Amino acid sequence: MILVTGGAGFIGGNFVLDWLATSDEPVINLDALTYAGNLETLAPLAGDARHVFRQGDICDRALVDELLSTYRPRAIVHFAAESHVDRSIHGPGEFVRTNVEGTFTLLEAARAYWGTLEGDEKAAFRFHHVSTDEVYGSLGPDDAPFTETHPYEPNSPYSASKAASDHLVRAWYHTYGMPVVTTNCSNNYGPYHFPEKLIPLMIVNALAGKPLPVYGDGKNVRDWLYVKDHCAAIRVVLQKGRLGETYNIGGWNEKPNIDIVHIVCALLDELRPDAAGSYSRLITYVKDRPGHDRRYAIDARKIERELGWRPAETFETGIRKTVEWYLANPEWVANVQSGSYRDWVVANYGDRDASRVQVTA
Ligand code: NAD
Ligand code: TYD
Repeated sequence: MILVTGGAGFIGGNFVLDWLATSDEPVINLDALTYAGNLETLAPLAGDARHVFRQGDICDRALVDELLSTYRPRAIVHFAAESHVDRSIHGPGEFVRTNVEGTFTLLEAARAYWGTLEGDEKAAFRFHHVSTDEVYGSLGPDDAPFTETHPYEPNSPYSASKAASDHLVRAWYHTYGMPVVTTNCSNNYGPYHFPEKLIPLMIVNALAGKPLPVYGDGKNVRDWLYVKDHCAAIRVVLQKGRLGETYNIGGWNEKPNIDIVHIVCALLDELRPDAAGSYSRLITYVKDRPGHDRRYAIDARKIERELGWRPAETFETGIRKTVEWYLANPEWVANVQSGSYRDWVVANYGDRDASRVQVTA
């Protein structure tokens, strides 16, 4: 049995589905079902006794204690977080609560539980902390990609709260000897991605004939990884990663945002042509995000050298699968676009409209 937190979110949901597709080891899934959590993602597991879902908050120590003592997991894989940079700008408090206090609560509960284990069980226990490359800050155009020893220089409330959680995990290893591993991954994309993030937002807006809002000059660079490659990397690190180590995970796939948007448009033009013309006609430059990191790039050589992991998908294969998934699952999209989603679109994009400049493809 493993305990997964945040397993109804984008990456956690993919992880649980992939875990149970590749192993019979049961999962206890703790998720608060915030706006980002969606049980429909886990619908393929309905009636599957290997998956136990519990709605609850990682800040609830009594609940975490109860789950640990009842299910006695051999590992915790910790995804639960507030994860969207733009939301962290509008309301940072929830990011500090879930990402910092929540990780602290989990670490303390895990430490108490681990203290009750003995022998092989104690030696085998793992706390896997899932984190982001955004803790390293922003790169210049000619800087080398982030290695695991790059200084922490977070710039957004989101990345600062994740950096704080990484520091707690590190300290619990050095101070208490907790058996932890941390992974810092680049931007993920793929099925079940909430359409507030760049790639799914572009797909769903294009299909709805709505503007495709590109921040600033569109030349900010991200390093994109197909979500199932991230899930595979986590399984490898959980199995073979050295205790107290961090591993960077990335796709060797740096691209400016505007290139990503054009690739999505071209795929939609091919797979769902629109009589009004190319979807790229909808590209709209809008006011930039405050503190917008210019470039992220991951040096993923350590995980390859030590653990033999490399991404299986190229961007071309992964983005095609992703667009096909959104085309095949309109009901999943419709169901996450609830009232609170619409409120978010107004809050985030309302004041950007003024600086819209329509561009040609
Ligand atoms: P997500 O926002 O899609 O999902 C987060 C999940 O956590 C949701 O199901 C939500 O209900 C749950 N959650 C939130 N607060 C909670 C709380 N207090 N208690 C219990 N559950 C709670 O996020 P994601 O994109 O799947 O990211 C998962 C993890 O991976 C995060 O830790 C994130 O920092 C990290 N990460 C994400 C990316 C990316 O590109 N999305 C890249 C690198 C690392
Ligand atoms: P996002 O998916 O929010 O991930 P992150 O900020 O964690 O990297 O954004 C990816 C990039 O796309 C980032 O440079 C911001 C940009 N972006 C837009 O240009 N328009 C949008 O509407 C969104 C949501 C993001």
